[in-house]
Amino acid sequence: MKHLLLALLMSVALIGCSDNGTPEKQTQADIAAGKVVADKECKGCHGLDGKGTAAGIPNLAGQRGRYLMASLKEYKDRVRTHAALRTIAATMSEADTRAVAAYYASLPPIPTPKVEIFSPYERGKVVSADCAGCHGADGNSKTPGTPNLAGQQPRYFVTATQEYLQGLRASAPMDPMLRKLNRLDLESVALYYASQTPAPRSAPSTGDAAAGEPRTAVCGGCHGSHGVSTDSATPSLASEDPAYLTQAIKAYRTTRKHDLMQRLVSTLSEQDIANIVAFYTTQKSKPAENGQTLLKDITDKCERCHAGERDNPALAIPIIGGQDKDYLILALRAYRDDKRGNSMMHNMSMPYSDSIIESIATYYASRPAK
Ligand code: HEC
Ligand code: HEC
Ligand code: HEC
Ligand code: HEC
Repeated sequence: MKHLLLALLMSVALIGCSDNGTPEKQTQADIAAGKVVADKECKGCHGLDGKGTAAGIPNLAGQRGRYLMASLKEYKDRVRTHAALRTIAATMSEADTRAVAAYYASLPPIPTPKVEIFSPYERGKVVSADCAGCHGADGNSKTPGTPNLAGQQPRYFVTATQEYLQGLRASAPMDPMLRKLNRLDLESVALYYASQTPAPRSAPSTGDAAAGEPRTAVCGGCHGSHGVSTDSATPSLASEDPAYLTQAIKAYRTTRKHDLMQRLVSTLSEQDIANIVAFYTTQKSKPAENGQTLLKDITDKCERCHAGERDNPALAIPIIGGQDKDYLILALRAYRDDKRGNSMMHNMSMPYSDSIIESIATYYASRPAK
């Protein structure tokens, strides 16, 4: 939140001093001159009607003039990386830039095409049917030695599957299935399971939970208090199947490759392990995500700036409703991967997996352009 505010203030300050010459009031002369530029230099990719001519090329029709100016400046200043645009923006005169922005801003928005909104939760539910036989329909495993997936942290979940496929763990029965899942499916099934409620478990016959608790002091810093992790890349241990937990800890001494965990469990005795397992198994866990409301929770935040009526004279905020889906995906990934210099949008999109970005992009692509 502090980052966001700071970034916001900074952008206000920056734009505040370079705000002269933005096409606040588009003159007919600017628009006419801009059409000539667009016809000569932009039409091949953005169309004369402002509709991107191929997937991945943004629509410019009806976009805010202030934002069009700001983004052309970003290409010119090499903040944005697209090679062709950098060359175009660098060689365009100030007057032509203003005119072409005024032209595209003056056009009616492109009618929104029909785009199906992608739900990682629903997709994950479909994929999880193949896993239910062993891991339980809701991810609560009833087979000793087979882990619970319910409530598990989603980034850890994806990492875990890759560890099997890369030979960092002993092979498991589902490896051939995992190999067939693409990135979106894998992230979706991770989100589906993260959203399920872990069922409580009773104490195993071996081990003493009360004796185990003090031994977990060092573990809690990462795995969360009482084994409920709050970090998306670190697994929750609470309510886990005791046989699986025991074999997982022991596997770090044999087949499972992870330097940090190998060191942490190397000094534990058999009795320590049994006690720690008894403690974690009997702790109450909870879902790590709420996949069913995730898209709404995210877009509610975006609407603070991107809702139509929120045009902010101090910020060059783009209209993203009705934008080309593939372009939105590229733009959001570029922010996330820090390849497009806007620290505010970077901080906001950093935690998003490809499947969540797909969901956000399909949502905005299907919205009216305002
Ligand atoms: C060779 C194809 C091509 C040409 C020619 C071209 N563009 Fe683009 N334009 C693109 C692509 C692709 C992107 C997205 C690049 C990215 O990811 O940053 C883009 C992005 C933009 C953006 C940023 C839009 C946004 O929503 O952030 C603006 C503004 C823009 N172009 C204006 C122009 C103007 C004005 C011209 C003519 C002077 C022009 N472009 C010519 C392909 C082209
Ligand atoms: C035939 C039974 C079986 C099926 C089907 C199965 N699994 Fe597993 N899974 C296991 C077993 C057993 C383990 C524990 C292996 C070990 O000890 O490392 C496991 C472990 C995992 C783990 C590691 C959990 C952790 O806490 O580290 C993940 C993630 C996982 N499975 C995902 C899946 C997914 C996704 C599917 C469906 C596409 C699936 N499994 C289908 C038996 C199965
Ligand atoms: C510095 C952070 C950190 C500490 C401290 C830590 N862990 Fe971990 N633990 C991790 C991470 C990260 C993983 C995932 C490793 C992997 O991918 O194999 C993990 C994995 C595990 C797993 C495997 C879970 C699964 O679902 O397969 C167990 C069990 C575990 N830790 C137990 C413990 C215990 C017991 C302690 C305390 C003695 C402990 N950890 C301390 C970070 C930590
Ligand atoms: C505090 C205001 C603010 C919030 C909140 C915000 N944005 Fe933005 N967004 C901006 C600004 C300003 C830009 C232009 C930044 C630039 O020049 O790269 C932008 C740019 C974008 C772009 C690039 C559009 C284009 O045409 O290239 C996308 C996509 C986007 N935001 C999506 C989102 C999503 C999704 C969320 C919610 C997770 C969100 N934004 C939240 C202010 C905001």
